[in-house]
Amino acid sequence: MSNNAYSRVRFFSGENVPLETHKVRMVQRIYLRHILDRHKVLAETGNNTFLLPNRDVFLDMLTDSGVNAMSEAQYAAMFMADDSYAGSETFYRLESATREFFGTKYFLPAHQGRACENILATAYVKPGSYVITNYHFTTTKAHITRLGGLVFETVADDAAKTKSDNPFKGNYDMGKFRAFVEKTGTDKIAFARIELGTNLIGGQPISLANIREVSQYCREKGLKLILDASLLADNLYFLKVREKALARKSLASIVRELASLVDIIYFSGRKLGCARGGGICLNDEADYRLLRDFVPLFEGFLTYGGMSVREMEAMAVGLRETLDIDVISQTPLFVEALGELLVEKGVPVVTPFGGLGLHLDASSFIPHVPQEHYPAGALGSAVYLVGGIRGMERGTLSEQRNPDGSERLSNMELLRLAVPKRVFTLSQLKFVADRVSWLYERRDLIGGLTFSDEPQTLRFFLGRLKPIGDWQEKLIAAFLKDMPSGL
Ligand code: F0G
Repeated sequence: MSNNAYSRVRFFSGENVPLETHKVRMVQRIYLRHILDRHKVLAETGNNTFLLPNRDVFLDMLTDSGVNAMSEAQYAAMFMADDSYAGSETFYRLESATREFFGTKYFLPAHQGRACENILATAYVKPGSYVITNYHFTTTKAHITRLGGLVFETVADDAAKTKSDNPFKGNYDMGKFRAFVEKTGTDKIAFARIELGTNLIGGQPISLANIREVSQYCREKGLKLILDASLLADNLYFLKVREKALARKSLASIVRELASLVDIIYFSGRKLGCARGGGICLNDEADYRLLRDFVPLFEGFLTYGGMSVREMEAMAVGLRETLDIDVISQTPLFVEALGELLVEKGVPVVTPFGGLGLHLDASSFIPHVPQEHYPAGALGSAVYLVGGIRGMERGTLSEQRNPDGSERLSNMELLRLAVPKRVFTLSQLKFVADRVSWLYERRDLIGGLTFSDEPQTLRFFLGRLKPIGDWQEKLIAAFLKDMPSGL
């Protein structure tokens, strides 16, 4: 534990307030538009928060991907980048940072997380083969199914329940896992995958004890085990505060143990390391040689993999900074602060609070909107309308349709309000809580959405929708009554 564990500082007043462990030295001006302007923008952008231009967004809580605040040491390192197609010194610095961090031998660079998924799926997934995972991520699953593979999920049944007191909802249910492997046979399984900070169920962690069990079973059965470490920072913080046996262990030793339990690690450097890029880390030479050949084909030469050398330098520093509890505590503590403000007002949110962001439970928020009318997407439109706040739908809209064209209804209908690292202040989060609580009181006014333009793959990125009926006009009228300024 570092000497500066601000995460343990308590206010004498007893108030539960998270404390920033950084000071702001560069800022970006943001604008809150009038609600009527926001309504116009929403119509122009098909009620899809991915399509909103930033100039019309007040608080961008779409994602923590590539938008985390970087440290002065990261910016300083960017000046020292060695621009070169082959043999860049920057590559060797990043390679050695990954070795130091994970204890792995080889590092393959890629332009972002899904590029790693493309390489891994291309190497290992065959038509009809299975990938076992605690829970899928959108891009991961798309790469697996693109190649004719299938996904089997192993989280316990309560992981898909929004309210729970399970501190590790991302854990594998070992019973489900074993039964599936016994039934299916190992030759039909491409690999098992563990996602840290399980994204789509609300940024929920997996315990180290559980990863040990998964690893032991995979080794017994000769199954390849792949770790998605994109959300390692949040998961690491939760291991430290929720897994009692780890309280006295250093963050560095926890990461090393995690890494030693799996065969291959990949990550989105837009999340882990607070820069932009990605990479694959491993020890096995045969796997390295197999995966290596895809890097120049899909990404770029082996010493940059599609990344800018400046981002690679920032990532190397960012990895080291991930081992500071006062750096990685910031997002979980601010998510918790926002969550507590909302719970106080009775707003349904995912508990325990996870990393990444606060997740509103759209199914309970607006139970009158059926899943076929995309409640989480509709809530996303409404939150933008009343607060200029951009969230991300994580529900049926983010699923792909079944091969017969029917909807694949999601287990959960969530609206994620991401809390990128060190970006927002507490008063901004209080504004979010205020507008979302106001909306909750007027929830009966919110209606559903329907597609006006639906792309075939990853439809949530570019699809356009329209409101069913005139619920947005009614919501605006109610808002202007309570907030005559329209802001
Ligand atoms: N794995 C996880 C767990 C992720 O959260 C992401 C991205 C990826 C892989 C893909 O990485 O974006 O660099 O290609 N999550 C972002 C999000 C998009 O907003 O949660 P990428």
